[in-house]
Amino acid sequence: MLHRLESPPVFRADLARSVRLFSAFRKEQTDPEFFYGVLARDTVGQLRSYTDLDGAMVLDVGGGAGFFGEALRAAGARVMCVDVDAGEMTWRTGKPPEGAVLGSALRLPFQTGSIDLCFSSNVLEHVPDPVAMAEEMVRVTRPGGTVFLSYTNWLSPWGGHETSPWHYLGGHWAARRYERRHGRRPKNLYGESMFGVSVATAVRWARHQRAAEVVDVLPRYLPVWTKHVVRVPVIREFLTWNLVLVLRKR
Ligand SMILES: C[S@@+](CC[C@H](N)C(=O)[O-])C[C@H]1O[C@@H](n2cnc3c(N)ncnc32)[C@H](O)[C@@H]1O
Repeated sequence: MLHRLESPPVFRADLARSVRLFSAFRKEQTDPEFFYGVLARDTVGQLRSYTDLDGAMVLDVGGGAGFFGEALRAAGARVMCVDVDAGEMTWRTGKPPEGAVLGSALRLPFQTGSIDLCFSSNVLEHVPDPVAMAEEMVRVTRPGGTVFLSYTNWLSPWGGHETSPWHYLGGHWAARRYERRHGRRPKNLYGESMFGVSVATAVRWARHQRAAEVVDVLPRYLPVWTKHVVRVPVIREFLTWNLVLVLRKR
């Protein structure tokens, strides 16, 4: 008797998916397990549209509590996760996620060309040198391997994170306002743990570096038919929300 192997659902970046993601996002603060679970499963589907995950060696850069690592492992990948902050890695379960390494995205403690898929979600805007992080991700990826780099750009409606939308009036001002209102500094502090990274900066870097071919540049959470917005200077800074760069190492 023949058994058909169940294949994963085809990833579709349609309007219904964007609505699902944005409504899940409303629970990010109150129910992170739910929100990150939804996002991580969605991301696995998206990653599968670029590369085979089964048996792949994946590095999750700035992987924090390991939501993405968990979903990637469930999809058959072998996952390592690097993060600079032990607290971020342990807040969820009291211990670091499987395969976790303490280290910096700016100097990844991995050999050149050792990773099949180098992945990062919402970390680039938290490092003081985003280009150095992107170059490190390309360095550790093997020739033919994939880099998936996604981050919230500064002029996105969520660019200021918990200080949004006041970041439009300036990151320091938004941080002071947050402190006045909440009696504590924001976790994502402009100039210290959150930096303004534009869409233009990342796209320019991707187009000019020579180590990898650019496979895709797209707004992560938006329907695929909005994709060309990332080509329109100025407008893209406000409408992209979250930029994804997909590269293939040469
Ligand atoms: C917004 S969280 C995202 C966590 C995870 N990627 C996710 O989406 O669930 C940002 C993460 O980046 C990590 N991070 C910040 N600077 C870093 C650096 N230089 N190297 C590695 N990780 C860093 C933080 O510790 C934190 O876990």
